[in-house]
Amino acid sequence: MASVEFKHPRIAPVFTGAFAAHATVLADDLGLFRALADTALTDHDLDRPPWVENRIRIEGVLNTLCRIDAVRRTADAYRLTDFGLELGRQAPVFRLWLGGYASVLADQISGAVDPRSGVRGGVVAESSSQIGSRYIDETFIQLVDSLQPAGRICDLGCGTGRRLLKICRETGQPGLGYDISADAIRAAQATVAEARGLGIDLEINQGDATTLPRNVSGVDIVTQAFMTHHIAPDDYCTAVLASYRVRFPGARYLVVFDTVSSSDPEHPELFAPGFDYIHALQNMEPRSRADALRIFDEAGYSCQQELELAVPNSYAWVLKFGSDGP
Ligand SMILES: C[S@@+](CC[C@H](N)C(=O)[O-])C[C@H]1O[C@@H](n2cnc3c(N)ncnc32)[C@H](O)[C@@H]1O
Repeated sequence: MASVEFKHPRIAPVFTGAFAAHATVLADDLGLFRALADTALTDHDLDRPPWVENRIRIEGVLNTLCRIDAVRRTADAYRLTDFGLELGRQAPVFRLWLGGYASVLADQISGAVDPRSGVRGGVVAESSSQIGSRYIDETFIQLVDSLQPAGRICDLGCGTGRRLLKICRETGQPGLGYDISADAIRAAQATVAEARGLGIDLEINQGDATTLPRNVSGVDIVTQAFMTHHIAPDDYCTAVLASYRVRFPGARYLVVFDTVSSSDPEHPELFAPGFDYIHALQNMEPRSRADALRIFDEAGYSCQQELELAVPNSYAWVLKFGSDGP
């Protein structure tokens, strides 16, 4: 059950407002305020030009504006509220500062931008690690420990590797981490040094989970936390998860912690508006809990346990490796 802290009456509107302010500029750029001033936009309309080529981004924008009641979703259509009409008229004020000075705003945040992804990988890894230590790590450690690990624990998309170190410490098993981001790997060096000081066997490498070699030896449990949604679209994710059978031939379990898209994006919240909006801007089709379960099934896993996590729309799934292919 998501923690009530994510609905904090003062923090949630500030967080949601940050994304809604950006969505206001984008809605104006995309001509959405103009179109919605005249008529509702139905799902049928969004499936046709001129909207269809930007459909995922447009829905991300509209759903973010629903959270501040500038737009309302009814049955199969989006409509502008009176407040939304006024917000649209003020879009140039938002664009002046958020658009005109977008680079000034971005440059104030420290951390290198990966030119390939456009993401500050070190910032993602460090922030995720800090959120995890508050809301996730205890559950993760209990869950993995309950599987009685007897071999390497391999964490894919390990970020700073701090959670991996904690679980290795708890279980006395060696750890192996991979992350695609060079900056995350730089951040993980301190964790590796700490492990060495504690006499814990922890190896962390830069690597892409989707292209790891076959037969990574000695792995008993594979984990991936808040990373599976990066593997998209769904068919590709199914193929990648199925490939773990040959990459980790001895492994018994795949433990996935991940967030899915909000099913009811109508209120200010902490976390979910950022998750939903940013991934829509990255043109990623929203993935529901049912989609995730279908992917696991099609990749040949049986889901042995599911837990709802403290972070909104987030779950832990314990998946048993099947012996045959999907
Ligand atoms: C949201 S962060 C989560 C980090 C960490 N697992 C945690 O829970 O704090 C997602 C991480 O997955 C990494 N990642 C994304 N795609 C990946 C891939 N294909 N292979 C390896 N790492 C990947 C990112 O670089 C990032 O560090």
